[in-house]
Amino acid sequence: MLSESNREAIHGLVLAKKQMKGGLLPILHDIQDLVGYIPEQSVAVIAKELNLSRAEVHGVITFYHYFRQAKTGKNIVQICRAEACRSMGSESLWEHACSRLKVDSDAGTDAECSVHAVYCLGLCSSSPAMSINDKVYARVDADKFDRLLAITRTST
Ligand code: FES
Repeated sequence: MLSESNREAIHGLVLAKKQMKGGLLPILHDIQDLVGYIPEQSVAVIAKELNLSRAEVHGVITFYHYFRQAKTGKNIVQICRAEACRSMGSESLWEHACSRLKVDSDAGTDAECSVHAVYCLGLCSSSPAMSINDKVYARVDADKFDRLLAITRTST
């Protein structure tokens, strides 16, 4: 449930860019930067102000894996599951990450970390790739994942 202040802030973000050509994506980025995900309640506001259908807004949100539709943990782990990374072992990295974070294999969130599948982080030639809190890492195996996670947990 969104707080009243977040609801007002989201409305303000939408109003600030509603006249911008192609403003939908910048608005979605702003909302996710503000609250960490795109709340369902914001879809109607965006649709009304941009004169779009809710389905159109929802379609954009679900098309881009970058946009999250639920709250996340304090740290966000993204593991690339696209072809180049899959061919270099990202599926076993995915399973390892889910096991380490004790979330189910469809992704999930514990109190500290959320794990999300993404489909290319732009490091295909150095796969498998992952990111933690938007910092990307190349050639990640289980040991490297554990080290990066330990560093993240002690520094946040
Ligand atoms: S396919 Fe994984 S970074 Fe491009």
